[in-house]
Amino acid sequence: MWWILFVLAVAVIAVVTGLMLYGIRRKTPPQDDDDAPGIRMIVIGGFVVPAIVLTVLFVLMVRDLGAESRELDSAEMTIDVIAHQWWWEVRYDDGRIVSANEVHIPTGQQVKMNLTTDDVIHSYWVPQLQAKVDMIPGIVNEIALQADDPGAYRGICGEFCGVQHAKMQFIVIAHAPAEFDAWLEREATVPQTPVDDPGRVAFLGSTCAGCHRVAGTDAQETLGPDLTHFGSRKTIGAGALSNTTPNLTDWVLDSQRAKPGNKMPPSPVTAAELAAIVDYLEGLD
Ligand code: CUA
Repeated sequence: MWWILFVLAVAVIAVVTGLMLYGIRRKTPPQDDDDAPGIRMIVIGGFVVPAIVLTVLFVLMVRDLGAESRELDSAEMTIDVIAHQWWWEVRYDDGRIVSANEVHIPTGQQVKMNLTTDDVIHSYWVPQLQAKVDMIPGIVNEIALQADDPGAYRGICGEFCGVQHAKMQFIVIAHAPAEFDAWLEREATVPQTPVDDPGRVAFLGSTCAGCHRVAGTDAQETLGPDLTHFGSRKTIGAGALSNTTPNLTDWVLDSQRAKPGNKMPPSPVTAAELAAIVDYLEGLD
């Protein structure tokens, strides 16, 4: 489709530019008997040719769009992605498994994505795998995602959605099917941290538990990303920082420094509590 549009556009520009140059270089002014070819040219160049070109493109586009939606029928698996200012909620298996800011898929097959938003309009965009698809309040847009090669593919929000639009990123991680099944199984497990773990105690006693969920604990809020398997994720704050100990420490203490305007307030914790919480979060893998 892109090549057809490109070749047509080049042809039109060449013809129009040629006619302009011919007009500029013409020495004699137009005579009265030139009117007839002038009108013929307006009718052909202004109506007949555009009508043919646009009709052909319309038919081709409808055909390609039809092919895209037919492909969706073969999807074996569905993942729901819900955009939030400014992070991504990712739900597998009808919401049985909830994660954030990473979309894991098996390679070599169609995965159906249900895309929507919890607040303003965002846009789901993985340039290497699919075109931008808007995420609109109250509407679920369905697309098919497919990666043939295992690896990590960068995803970004493609629609301006507020002050941290630029730091609303995600990663699509494509695994070979067997590895994907193992990942999904692991993601479904509940982390076994002792009830008296100092990090767990500090986490549940702090403001963290007011917005986040960790399966198997009293932290069950869904305002912020689900942290059940946070330790295994590659980034913090939807791509704001890489997931390292110093970055996580800074983030928990005051995420506003790395991502001003995000909805997570600074945590009023002691140095010992902070270190314990970071340790606890990193252990959630
Ligand atoms: Cu979400 Cu831009």
